[in-house]
Amino acid sequence: MRDLLIENLAEIATPTGRASRRGRAQGEVRRWRDGEILCRDGRIAFVGTRAERLEAFGELAVAERLDGHRGTALPGFVDGHTHLPWTGSREVEFAQRLAGRTYEEIAAAGGGILSTVRSTRAASREQLVDAMLPRLARMLACGTTTAEAKSGYGLALADEQRQLEAIRDADRLQPVELVATLLAAHEVPPEHRAARSRYLDLVCAEIVPAIAARGLARFCDVFCEQGVFSAAESRRVLEAGLTAGLLPRLHADEFADSGGAELAADLGACSADHLMAVSERGIEALAASSVTALLLPGTSFFLRKKSFAPARRLIAAAVPVALATDCNPGSSNTESLVTVVQLAVFELALTVEEALTAVTLNAAACLGLAEEIGTLEPGKRADVVVIDEPNLLHLAYHYGVNPVRSVIKGGHEVYRAGNVLHSD
Ligand code: NIG
Ligand code: FE
Repeated sequence: MRDLLIENLAEIATPTGRASRRGRAQGEVRRWRDGEILCRDGRIAFVGTRAERLEAFGELAVAERLDGHRGTALPGFVDGHTHLPWTGSREVEFAQRLAGRTYEEIAAAGGGILSTVRSTRAASREQLVDAMLPRLARMLACGTTTAEAKSGYGLALADEQRQLEAIRDADRLQPVELVATLLAAHEVPPEHRAARSRYLDLVCAEIVPAIAARGLARFCDVFCEQGVFSAAESRRVLEAGLTAGLLPRLHADEFADSGGAELAADLGACSADHLMAVSERGIEALAASSVTALLLPGTSFFLRKKSFAPARRLIAAAVPVALATDCNPGSSNTESLVTVVQLAVFELALTVEEALTAVTLNAAACLGLAEEIGTLEPGKRADVVVIDEPNLLHLAYHYGVNPVRSVIKGGHEVYRAGNVLHSD
């Protein structure tokens, strides 16, 4: 038996339950003043006051202790949408955007995703892992304990496979747990531009079944967007995924309403992501389904778009809302879910409580992990973030800083501000 007692906390704040929370319930967060958390054999054994802990467990004289320094404990953050395995950099395009060119114009001129495809195709699996590890270290330092990671810069079987193998390798090398998604339909690669339907055939008939058979991905994603893949094409890809055992999630209605939300609802997708341009019909379709709206306000911010996803309307329609970084070199170059929470509060008008649920329980639920993680409750895995702040509200109130002091993964402290710690 191995015990870790997290003590001397000013506050503990967590959503509760084993399924996503929607509507008013998204903002209902349980809070304790002066609480303690007992982690036993990697799971949470107790959350509550010191007096309750003494009564139920006694002194726990031999337990390892972690001093919370009057900070606030939250569930480990879950990043449900990242494009982590890439090499190369696009700061020149970034500067062009600052000078007035749009993301879509740059992509149409052969830049954008295709520029990262060129650099990522040239990278070995080891080089991809080497590129991911510092990103994962920064994610951990910002409180992320579990993340989804996509391929999508290979756009050919061998190259997509290498990205997914790099995700598998990186998962084993550091504490942030990774869940892999195949995004072979992120763009049409240059060699298939003349006959795009051939590329779709290839994705559906070869890439999706081969990746699924090798057990390299849990989800299948597609960039359903005007000028990329239509809703009908996206449906083909996601249905091929379903046939092969990959669960659907999709980039939906990011720049234009492309019927992505309706498609997500129709297929019962795990999430519909972005939704900056979702229509009223799309919101209604999501509301009538079990799809999570996975919002990525870092993308609107980074692309300097005037429009953010209609988070308040989604919550009012009782669609569960989650938040993610979209970490990628083109449209959202950040690893920080803390920043995303702050953007969600300031730009999506979420309350801090709603934003907390969005980066913990609801993100876990849309990855199929809500039984295991996403809340601080007995029986769940002991993934905990301690922030150097006296209560939850400071997570956004004190903006522009990273308040993370300690990160605990599976009952081990794996990060402390300034130091990476190695568990055995
Ligand atoms: O989620 N929308 C498509 N994919 C990414 C951008 C990827 C890139 O620009 O490299 C996104 O925004
Ligand atoms: Fe994305």
